[in-house]
Amino acid sequence: MVGARHTDENWRVSSADPARSTPATDVPPAILELARTARRVTVLTGAGMSQESGVATFRDAVTGLWSNVDPNDFATPEAWHRDKPAVNAWYLWRVHLVREAEPNAGHLALAQWAARPGMTLRIVTQNIDDLHERAGSSVFAHLHGSLFAWRCDRCGTAAPTPAPPTEPLARVDPQECQACPQGDIRPGVVWFNEMLPTEPFTDAAQACQSADLVLVVGTSGVVQPAASLPHLAGARGIPVIEIDPRETEFTYAATHSWRATAAQALPALVAALG
Ligand code: APR
Repeated sequence: MVGARHTDENWRVSSADPARSTPATDVPPAILELARTARRVTVLTGAGMSQESGVATFRDAVTGLWSNVDPNDFATPEAWHRDKPAVNAWYLWRVHLVREAEPNAGHLALAQWAARPGMTLRIVTQNIDDLHERAGSSVFAHLHGSLFAWRCDRCGTAAPTPAPPTEPLARVDPQECQACPQGDIRPGVVWFNEMLPTEPFTDAAQACQSADLVLVVGTSGVVQPAASLPHLAGARGIPVIEIDPRETEFTYAATHSWRATAAQALPALVAALG
């Protein structure tokens, strides 16, 4: 259980009482106070972080990727071995879409916060896009890999990101590995049923346990083991702030839960730090 949940309703702009909710950009005083005194901040981000850049989330009922395609057909090693051209084409189109996108005000605000004197701000992301980096942030851990780290599915040799098509295609044959005879070049993302790379996860756990403040931005909290990370912080009494326009699996455990979007809340918070 992440810290004890405050019963003080004054700061909560929760969905529990929308009539009483304050504008999303009004920084709740308790959250501002924590951010003001924090020097080692770890930020866990999910797909919601990039939603305002036009990159679809996974579980939104209408626009979510998994609401439109079956992850068993595109996001498992079994799907890859069943139909490489279809999976390859799907990820190449996501490469195209992410390249078309721009970091939003939330990404930029995190980069600004990290640049403040005396700050150690670590970004741990589940996202496979490069929008944090393009906003000027260095990402401490990419838990689920990257759309820009392709490799051979046999020998593991890294390969350049293939050129994506300019329109969505149903099938694109994967490129052949230049280092081994039978390998095909696959996207460097972590699929369901695959183990997370150990080092990024261990680094992320350490970053959550050694922080003096943890932020959870734009993740539904349903995918393990990433979803366990904020609880590691809470178990040590480290405050955890959730930023999400909707309640999530974390909300009950968050020290503070702020009903706002990433591009609303983070710039307002960093601006309020003065
Ligand atoms: N700002 C902040 N949060 C937002 C925004 C926004 N603009 N828009 C949506 N959200 C929130 C949603 O309310 C939801 O809680 O972002 C969350 C997105 O949840 P998911 O779609 O489940 O994405 P995520 O939690 O990142 O998924 C975890 O699942 O499919 C796998 O590997 C994939 O990394 C992914 C993992």
